[in-house]
Amino acid sequence: MIVTIDGPAGTGKSTVARILATRLGFEFLNTGAMYRAVAHVCLQRQVDLSDADAVGRIPEGLEIVFSNNRLILDGQDVTEAIRDQQVTQAASLVAANVQVRQRLVELQRSAARGVSLVTEGRDQGTVVFSDAECKFFLTASPQERAQRRQRELLDRGEAIALEELMAQQDLRDERDETRACSPLVPATDAVVIDTTPMTLEEVASYLEGLVRKRLEAAEMF
Ligand code: DC
Repeated sequence: MIVTIDGPAGTGKSTVARILATRLGFEFLNTGAMYRAVAHVCLQRQVDLSDADAVGRIPEGLEIVFSNNRLILDGQDVTEAIRDQQVTQAASLVAANVQVRQRLVELQRSAARGVSLVTEGRDQGTVVFSDAECKFFLTASPQERAQRRQRELLDRGEAIALEELMAQQDLRDERDETRACSPLVPATDAVVIDTTPMTLEEVASYLEGLVRKRLEAAEMF
């Protein structure tokens, strides 16, 4: 079974997806981390982010491996490095590149072959796994999302004003929602959940209940 969790940044997708995957005994795929990994390499190699051909060539030959919740890029653990502010900004530009998306979508589909998977991103239910059995789309108020990001950055020792984070978030939302290729929209058959008043544990439990019902229904036929 494939479970997709899409939605904008700060809605708790990756935490919820990880909890859900553990509880169900499914594999977990964090596709945002893959776009971040490509952005990280672009920054390291000083690739001009407005040069679509140069950016599009970056994923060729890159080895992206998830191991014990760590992201190993060409043999190097970049789990923390890909969460910084510069990579976050660059990732939303890189994610609009058609060649990058094609290559990463191939990798995402091959990760799903023969396994049950919880996958999170922006286009998992609409494009990458449009036949998925369970699709969720998480939302939260812009203020709540920015506060979650602020807490995440504080845990890493980066103190950034909420207004600045909200401005960056608006810009990234606009890029993600208006890009020509795989824009961020809920799949027509996705269950949309507003996570603003919920803890991420509560969201995970709610989704778990829905997935288990689906699994039971599938077993009956
Ligand atoms: O979820 P995140 O913040 O780690 O994602 C990083 C960037 O990648 C963000 O700008 C959205 C983009 N992205 C995407 O376009 N498609 C995905 N499946 C996952 C992430």
